[in-house]
This record gives sequence, C-alpha cells and structure tokens, in this order.
Amino acid sequence: MAVRELRPGVYSVGAVDWDRRIFDELIPLPDGTSYNSYLIKGRERTALIDTVDPTNLDQLLDNLQKLEVERIDYIISNHAEQDHSGSIPRILEIYPQAKVVTNPKCKEFLKYLLLIPEKSFITVKDRDTISLGDKTLQFILFPWVHWPETMLTYLKEDRILFTCDLFGSHLATSELFIRDEAKVYEPAKRYYAEIMMPFRTSIRRHLEEIEEMEIEIIAPSHGPVHQRPEFIIDAYRDWVSDKVENEVIIPYVSMHGSTDKMVSYFLDALMERGIVVKPFNLTKTDIGELAMALVDAASIVIGSPTVLVGPHPLLVYAVYLINALRPKTKFISIIGSYGWGGRMVEQLKEMLTNLRAELLEPVIVRGYPKGEDFKSLDRLADELLKRHRAFRKGV
Ligand code: FEO
Repeated sequence: MAVRELRPGVYSVGAVDWDRRIFDELIPLPDGTSYNSYLIKGRERTALIDTVDPTNLDQLLDNLQKLEVERIDYIISNHAEQDHSGSIPRILEIYPQAKVVTNPKCKEFLKYLLLIPEKSFITVKDRDTISLGDKTLQFILFPWVHWPETMLTYLKEDRILFTCDLFGSHLATSELFIRDEAKVYEPAKRYYAEIMMPFRTSIRRHLEEIEEMEIEIIAPSHGPVHQRPEFIIDAYRDWVSDKVENEVIIPYVSMHGSTDKMVSYFLDALMERGIVVKPFNLTKTDIGELAMALVDAASIVIGSPTVLVGPHPLLVYAVYLINALRPKTKFISIIGSYGWGGRMVEQLKEMLTNLRAELLEPVIVRGYPKGEDFKSLDRLADELLKRHRAFRKGV
C-alpha cells in the first residue's frame, strides 16, 4: 500500500492484502483485507500505531523507508492479535530505541505471544497521554473489542481515533478514505458480525464514551478510514441495539429431500405472512453471509435431517458458531425429519446455551412430510408472526 497522509504528519503506512481469502483459518474474506498501520511524526518524537501481519511486513518497511524514518520512539500496540502486533519484534530490531506502549494486559499477551522482553515496554493506564512534541496521544482502555486487552488511541490535536479492530472492515481497497459509504456498509457489517457481535453488550456501553468525544476521523486497522465518523457509529448503534427485524433465517441441510420439502413449504408460509426469510443451504453458503443475517433477524429456524441419532454435522458446525457469536435472536425453532428416532432437538438445544431466545415448538417429522406436518409448519409460521408482532410493539 502506498504511503498516504491523513493529516499533516499523520501517515497511513500499512499493507493491503488483496488476495487473502480466509482469516484465522475460519472467516471467509471475499474482499481481501488490509492491516493498517499509522505513523505519526511529532516535532520531537515519532510513533507507529500498530504494525501489520508479518506476511505483509515488506509493505510496512518499504513505506517507512519512503518516509525516511530513521527513528521510531513509540510503537503503540492497541491489540495483541498477530495481524497487528506480529511485526513488532522485527520493528524493534530495526528501531532498537523504540518502546512498545500498551496497557498491562496487552503487555502480558505480547510477552507470551511474541516473546517481547519486559524492558521493551512502557505501560499506560486508561486516559494516560504521551507527547510527541506538538502532538498528544491519549490511550483509552476499551476491553473486548475483540480480545480482553484492546485499547484505542486518540490523537488529540487532530481529533483522530485509532480503533484497531473496532469499526474496521475486511476490505482491500486502494482508497484511503471511504468515498462511497454504501459500498463499505456491507463489509463493515460482515466484520461486525464475525468479529464484534459476541461483545455487543460491552460495545454498547463503550459507544457512549465515544459519542462524548470530539472525533473527526476514525482510523481502524482493517479497511478504509472514516472521514464521517457518524456513518460507522450510527451503524454500530443499530447493530448493538436490542432492535430486531421481522426476519427469520433458516440455516439448513437436506440429505434426501424431506427437510428440503419442509424448508421450501415453510419459506412460502413465512413469505405469505409478510415475514422476511433468508434460507442458508449450508452445503453452499458462505458462513459470513449467515453471520451477517444474524445481526438483525428476530428468529432462527434450524432445518436438519437426523444423521444416526443427531443433527447433520454441518448444522452442528453452524449452530456452534451461532452460539459463539451470541446474536440478539429472540426466537428459535427446529424443523426436520428422522428415519427411526434420535435426539436431534435435545442436542441442538444443548448447543445454544448462550442465546437468550425462546424455543418455539419444533416440527420434526418421520420421513417425508405429509398433510398434518404441513399444518404444523403453518402453526409455527403463525406463532412466529404473532411473536414478531408482539415483540415489535414492545420495543
Ligand atoms: Fe485484526 Fe483481532 O485482529
């Protein structure tokens, strides 16, 4: 990524990873990503805010060379995950006078993840500041915007908030600043769904602090930079709220057509009742699309055949992820079929302990669905409509 200037003396020096297609060996990245790092040249001292994934270190080093950076005094580490911190050891080798500035929890992580020695650190507390001469950095401890050690850094004079993972997007782009917000909304929502949604309650609490700050630029460490902070703050306010949409999402698999028939009948039943419905055939779906749909939907209906005595393994994977992502889902149900018995419903229920959702009567049929089974699906659709209406009135 080329060097670009955000404000006089504040440079974007990180890397764009155009070809990366999976993150943490888990999350699909249809649009690539970036590891943003920022160099701040003060009158007296220079700071580097976060580094890059070590696979892309060359881009960061080239940029520091282009700017003829001979000395770095502070490496600010907002987050210990290796896509931001992994290049710190190499930067310390090249700039041996530099100190890693971070909070005690992040220091602990950096010591055991990257073997950075104790003597390399300066630790800071919430709201501590350091001066670069004419520029002041303030540190805001902001735990659980991905890991428990995360913090934000605020450049007071320029009113820039460096947020690392928070407010980011996995989006490789040549644009430094967002020009078309509509194009970034979806990658930012996907990012929120995959990375931030489990910490919804904590983010909601912290958003109030951010709303009180004077911020002109939000500079995350993935994706383009926000020149209009209210765009992403408003989006987060909506995503972390308890507000749900009149939507049902249906992650499902069918082996011999019985569950498929139930899902397609149920889809029509919901559509006829004016409920937005999104089916996800797990043999084809991108798990990130499913995560995004979880952000707003009022209900999840799981569709599974019985494999031996339990749910299909693809459902086990998806339900495990749903439970880990802790969406604000209000209602859950299960539809599907069996051949000779099993404990599918019990097993799926036991996997959803993190959700505060009410379980509506499942519809599990033997073999291919027939007359009475379709009536049960109609009843479930009626129940969902009733619950959605009641819930929406209550908010
Ligand atoms: Fe982009 Fe949690 O690291």
